[in-house]
Amino acid sequence: MCGIVGYLGKNNTKEILLSGLKELEYRGYDSAGIAVLQDNNFANYKAVGKLVNLEEKTKDFITDGFAVGIGHTRWATHGKPTELNAHPHLGESSYVVHNGIIENYAQLKKELQEDGVTFLSQTDTEVIVHQFEKNLKNISNAFEAFEKTISELQGAYAMLIVTKSLPDTIFFAKNGSPMLVGVNENDEKFFASSDSPLIGLAKEVNYFDDGDYGYVTQDALEIFNKAGKKVEAHFVTLATDKLSAQKDGYRFFMEKEIYEQSDVIADTILGRLGEDEIIFDELDSSLFDGIHEIKLCACGTSYHSALCASYMFERYSKVRCSVEVASEFRYREPLMSKDTLFVVISQSGETADTLETLKMAKNAGLKTLVICNVDNSSMVRLADACILTRAGIEKGVASTKAFATQVTVFWMLSLYVAKRNKAFTTKELQDQIHLLREVPASVIVTDAMHERIKRLSKRYLHGHGFFFIGRDLFFPLALEGALKLKEISYLHAEGYPSGEMKHGPIALADPELFTIALLPQHLLYEKSKSNVEELSARDSTICAISPLPFDKADDFIPINSCKDYMLEFFEMMVVVQLLSLEISVRLGNDVDMPRNLAKSVTVE
Ligand code: F6R
Repeated sequence: MCGIVGYLGKNNTKEILLSGLKELEYRGYDSAGIAVLQDNNFANYKAVGKLVNLEEKTKDFITDGFAVGIGHTRWATHGKPTELNAHPHLGESSYVVHNGIIENYAQLKKELQEDGVTFLSQTDTEVIVHQFEKNLKNISNAFEAFEKTISELQGAYAMLIVTKSLPDTIFFAKNGSPMLVGVNENDEKFFASSDSPLIGLAKEVNYFDDGDYGYVTQDALEIFNKAGKKVEAHFVTLATDKLSAQKDGYRFFMEKEIYEQSDVIADTILGRLGEDEIIFDELDSSLFDGIHEIKLCACGTSYHSALCASYMFERYSKVRCSVEVASEFRYREPLMSKDTLFVVISQSGETADTLETLKMAKNAGLKTLVICNVDNSSMVRLADACILTRAGIEKGVASTKAFATQVTVFWMLSLYVAKRNKAFTTKELQDQIHLLREVPASVIVTDAMHERIKRLSKRYLHGHGFFFIGRDLFFPLALEGALKLKEISYLHAEGYPSGEMKHGPIALADPELFTIALLPQHLLYEKSKSNVEELSARDSTICAISPLPFDKADDFIPINSCKDYMLEFFEMMVVVQLLSLEISVRLGNDVDMPRNLAKSVTVE
């Protein structure tokens, strides 16, 4: 997702900012920019696309001597990836870079516009700099104006502001999005949204806590906590290995991405949950006019999230829904009617089979919607409407956080349609929205859980196959669990509906057949349990994942007791992802780049 860098010192500011941004490239971005304040003059450059474009634009720009500078790589969320929407954003005499989402930006923007402020971009970020300058008009002390601005913002942010009002200073604030500051013996100060830009430049770094804000000058680093109390920096020595810095200390990108799920789900719901409604600013309210059916089309993991969606659209929104594997749909001469909304789901937005089905639907005159993680991708450009998941770039070939955000978007979308179709009462909608707010917490990986799965994984390195089984929404989760295991362990695994085992596959049951049983408390528990008992009676080795103890299981991975099956879904999702990861690690496989697989499948 977006990346931030900042520098204050006497060295080559432009180069430090650009090479810092280069270190953040792996996070994915679609535009970039820098702003440098030197001798009370601002220089600002922005470019769409890769950093080489920004390098080209700045090739004649030279920084010499003391300067302050900020830089940003942007992954579009509010507004298209254009130069105007790229950061840093300018007020009258200040620039801001920002990661995260300002939830109350629409209200602030309205008030600023009423005061006569003109906005150049479609971003939420631009309100920060205008709000800061509005406060500067009434408060002569620039830091106090900054403090007031922070108190007026709701949402998640890591931000840096440079201003002519205090030209030797960088203001910073962090809440919900990561940021650190580094220092060295030359009184230089470096900021970044993750370690790697600081390696080799700063010896010691301080990771900000949520609510921290303050400023740096050549002589000072002043940090205040969310209560406004001055706090000491807690410096730690910075690691020196760049690749491991990109992995933030995790062994694999996939592991990091599993751990990131809480943050990216929080990003995905940010600004989209009202009191009793779901807000998708990006959707035209007429999108669902005349629609009597939703057809979902995707491949692989995205297909599994579409299967999850089909349960939610029928159960919550009361809309007929069907799901298709894209490579099958392409050639089976499907009947398409114009009262169907055609929805494609793709992490990359480039998968050839899915893209082709989108073209078919468009040619047939259907309304189309894409759920995608990459703005400006082929599918996003082609579909009539788009909802972006906000997972950030996914480096591990086996998809984890993209799946998590897709299911989250579908849950929100099913409620959006439920409200429109009056399928839910206000109270029911409010209850669902409360549950959605709990998802980020439900996917946090605890040490105890990870350790337990690591230990258990050693028993599952052989055998003649795995069955992941579940019912209802837990059936697509079983499919996804089996796909994860296949992809990175190279062991044979199948996902199956629990109730279907007795119609054939149960013939395979013996101690060497491993059954991973998903047993949520709040959805068909007794029925699923009897299905697992049938397998246990035939001596299949059972690993049960459930909040409730299950004495017929050989192994048991407990999840937290939750108040709804949707939260149980997300808890179990993390368990099956980690189980695959740890089995793969024990087998000595390349977790992030499994054999024969590619991240973006642009061939048929
Ligand atoms: C599995 C995985 C693949 C993709 C599939 C579709 O871990 O990543 O199954 O889900 O290739 O890709 P997208 O979502 O980019 O269309």
